[in-house]
This record gives sequence, structure tokens and C-alpha cells, in this order.
Amino acid sequence: MDKLRIIGGRPLHGQLTVGGAKNAALPLLCAALLSDQPVTLGNVPYLADVTTIAKLLMQHGMHLSLLDTGGTNLFGEKEAHGFYSRRLLLHTPEITSITAPYDLVRTMRASVLVLGPLLAREGRAKVSLPGGCAIGSRPVDLHLKAMEALGATITLEEGYVIATAPRGGLKGGEIHFEKISVGATENALMAASLASGTSVLSNAACEPEIEDLARMLRAMGARIEGAGTPTITVRGVSSLNGCAHEVIADRIETGTYLCAVALAGGELSLHRTRADTLIPVIAVLKTMGLHIEEREGGQMIYVRHDGSPLAPADIVTEAHPGFPTDMQAQLMSVLTHADGVSSISETIFENRFMHVPELARMGADISISGHTATITGPVKLKGAPVMATDLRASVAMVIAALAAEGETIVSRIYHLDRGYERLEEKLSMCGANITRVK
Ligand code: UD1
Repeated sequence: MDKLRIIGGRPLHGQLTVGGAKNAALPLLCAALLSDQPVTLGNVPYLADVTTIAKLLMQHGMHLSLLDTGGTNLFGEKEAHGFYSRRLLLHTPEITSITAPYDLVRTMRASVLVLGPLLAREGRAKVSLPGGCAIGSRPVDLHLKAMEALGATITLEEGYVIATAPRGGLKGGEIHFEKISVGATENALMAASLASGTSVLSNAACEPEIEDLARMLRAMGARIEGAGTPTITVRGVSSLNGCAHEVIADRIETGTYLCAVALAGGELSLHRTRADTLIPVIAVLKTMGLHIEEREGGQMIYVRHDGSPLAPADIVTEAHPGFPTDMQAQLMSVLTHADGVSSISETIFENRFMHVPELARMGADISISGHTATITGPVKLKGAPVMATDLRASVAMVIAALAAEGETIVSRIYHLDRGYERLEEKLSMCGANITRVK
């Protein structure tokens, strides 16, 4: 199993191109199932999770082909280390299987996003209950209730969700989410786009990735209003066309580099990003003392830190537009360097503090009480062998290691490969001493 070896203490300097968002690419790929026409999807990140969903979609009947590999950076030069984004052609002339099997679904929770498209297009879906990051129980009840609100009948058999649309297909309905859920909102949007009549989604998630999905669905001919707000209206259509769409920039990858500079010091220019999708993260880091400038209408972010003490902060994770739970672990690494007592309350997922004992192995002073972690700083982190426990926790270890004295070995980095494309190559291009050990 691969590991990362990081020798801390080198500031970061340079330019990075941010990839397409994993959390947008996964639902967008699934949405292509809704049409029998070809869909071109650009800025697709090359990640383990994308490969997993591609395998799943292929066995449902989707043909995926690579149109080009990206391969050049924004200066038109070949990226030093290969491909950072890809353009895919997705075409599903017919659905060849309505079953999403356990073997594929168990490795990635986002696989449940095929439920809405299969049910809407074929009237039937059989989807294994998902696995994914070990950050709490993460049920799928909201996805199932949304499908029921569109007229589907749901049964659970031997670990599979069996969903059946009424005769004549799904029907528009009122979908109220008791709790805000990104994935359930996405499944509902996709299914309602092909349902007959009007659906109104209330207490919907407002994440930028939802807006991106709605943009692509509209380009396919869907009639959607209000995406990005808690109330979304979908007027169903009988069929959807193909389209060409670019995946939105990864706000979590961007935020991770901002945190890396806060820890390691130096300066980075982050290209092909979207500052407007990162407002709460930028606000917190600026308050702590990081120098951040938005340039080129927010598509480039310049960040600088001279290593002076950072101010502590009190953070509560919330659904968008609140502070994202996917940035919680990285910010915690940064807060170990802040001068004073900080706190982070995690309200989205239970059990999302698995990085705390690992950071403690590097010398961090963190205590947990219920949903709140208290971080006392500043501490000088020291290199140690640590273990990645989930995707964002893994990257929190990596950026902590950039600032730590001596060598850190991060093991179990298959978590990291699920969501960060060639992270070690990007960071070493900017001066970090980081290598992958096979
Ligand atoms: C998505 C993101 C993930 C991010 C999360 C919250 C993708 C592929 N993943 O995950 O990176 O951390 O949003 O921003 O986009 N819940 C239920 N029942 C359900 C569904 C969810 O109780 O049917 C709960 C979850 O356990 C969690 C909360 O709702 O406590 C939010 O989860 P949700 O927004 O659905 O997360 P995902 O879509 O799985």
C-alpha cells in the first residue's frame, strides 16, 4: 500500500491549477444516465472515486470515452506531471442493467446517485446500500423518501434498495427534506427532471455542486428554477437531450491549498478556481491573519503567509453557505498553529474527528467534548508516522506534515487518492518535500 513521506519545514511557492470538483463530477456523471443522447463533460478530475463511478455507469450501459486529457496548464504548457483534467464523452443509448451491485457501491457512498436517474429513465432501480467514508452512520433515508414523494415504491431486500416507479413513470410531488442533504437533493433533482408534472423541493441543499448539477440538467433541457436556494422548482419533461458541460472548480481542493500555505508559509497562486464558492473559508482564514487576494474575477486566488502568528478561531460546520464540513480537518491542522484557544463544532457528521488522535501524535493539543474539539496553540508540530482515516482527514495530515519538524509518513493514502489528483506532485512542484513510497 502506498504511503507519503513528507519532510516538513519548506515554504510553498508557485502556481497551481485547481481541478474539477469531485463532488460535482460524481452527480454530473450520473446525470448523463438520464439521456440517450451523448453528453460531453470537461474538467473531470482523475480520481479513484471517478473511476469507481465510471465502472458503475458502464455496467448500467453508459459508454465512456476520453476525448482529451487536459494535459496543458493555463499557460498552454504541458503540465510537468501529466493530466489534471479530462474531457469525457458519455453516452447511454440504453440502460442495460438497473442493478448497482454491492461490490461497486460499497466502496463509495456517492454510488447511490444512480438511484434517481435509473428510476426516472427506466422506472426501476436496484441499488445496494452504500459504504464510503467511515464518518458516521450516513443513512440514505432522505434519498428514499424523496423518491417516494415522486410516487416510487421502495422496498429493502438483502441489502438492496428496490425502487419502482408507478405505471407511466414518476410523478411530480412535494419533497420536503427533514434534514439538509446534498446527495438526496441531487437524486431528487435528477429524478424530478424526468417526472411528469411539477416538483417542489424544500429545505434543499444549496451547495455550489447542486447549482452545477442544475446547470447541466438545464443544458439537457430540464426546467429547474431556484437551485442554490432552499426551494427548487422542477417542471418535469418527457426526455432530456445531450449537452456539453464543464465541471465546476473544486472548492475543497482550493481551500486545502489555502490551509497548506497557512501552515507551511510562502505564497501560492491558485488558478482556475472560484472564490465565490469558498466565502466562509476565505473569511475565516483572513480573520486569522492569512493574506488572500481574489483576482481575475475570483478565478484566481493569491495567498501569502509570512509565518507570523495566526489568530485563533471558533468554527461551526454547517450546510452551505456555512463553513463546510469537508474543510474541517484541514482547518484543525491550521488551528494547531494559532496563538490561543480555538474550537471547532462538527454539526454535519458524527464521528468526524478521527484525525484528532493522529494530529495529537504530531504534538497537537486537542481535546474533544461531544461535537466540539478545542485546540490550544501554538504548538510546533513534529513529524510522526500517522494513518489516514478518511479523505479529508488524510489531507489534514499531509498539510500538517508540511509544517512539522522532521519526517512524517502518512499511510493508508488510498483515501487521499479518492479525492485529490496527484497531490504530492502538485505540492512538490511548489517546493514541498513530499514523495510517494510504493
Ligand atoms: C456530500 C459530499 C461530502 C460532504 C457532504 C456534506 C459528495 C459526493 N459528498 O455527501 O463530501 O461532506 O455532502 O457537505 O458530494 N443524511 C441522512 N439521511 C440521508 C442522507 C444524509 O440522515 O438520506 C445525513 C448524513 O448522515 C449527514 C447529513 O445528512 O449527517 C448530510 O449528509 P449529505 O449532505 O447527504 O452528504 P452526502 O451527500 O453523502
